[in-house]
Amino acid sequence: MHNRKAVYPGSFDPITNGHIDIIQRGLKIFDNILIAVLENPNKRPLFTTKERVKMIQEIFSDQKNVEVKSFHGLLVRFAKENNAKVVMRGLRAISDFEYEFQLALMNRKLDPEIETFFMMPNVKYSFLSSNLVKEVSMLGGCLKGLVPEAIEARLKNKTYNSYKKL
Ligand code: PNS
Repeated sequence: MHNRKAVYPGSFDPITNGHIDIIQRGLKIFDNILIAVLENPNKRPLFTTKERVKMIQEIFSDQKNVEVKSFHGLLVRFAKENNAKVVMRGLRAISDFEYEFQLALMNRKLDPEIETFFMMPNVKYSFLSSNLVKEVSMLGGCLKGLVPEAIEARLKNKTYNSYKKL
């Protein structure tokens, strides 16, 4: 049978329970999910590409059908090189729609063979974003239930020094 593989791209700085929720939903539909971590020096991420990849690998270490790689350049090119014809993205709210609509249609223009597949996360994550998670962590707030415990610990380590400087 045809192997259905989806690429799930993002910055994942860091991965949150919202991303994990989308990946788990995706696994009901696709045989394999390739998590593609954007390597973008312009975005000045809190975690290095290596750290972001490693954190995600640890979370999915017992799931053979989830793979993690970093990528740079065009997403559609990366998808093709990895034999995936679907890009999976999560939609939290209407506010996500405009950007995602542009991204999906630009990707279609670049490669008409690649389709974008959208899914909604559990409503309890609809307010969640990596940027807010970083801010809450920096200000000493509790992230229980929003990111895996291992990620919360790493966030605390990373943000501790910047918090002290405030
Ligand atoms: O988690 P994010 O930051 O919302 O993810 C954005 C991402 C990585 C999906 C997007 O920036 C991307 O695909 N970048 C790769 C460059 C690319 O292909 N650009 C043209 C598509 S419009």
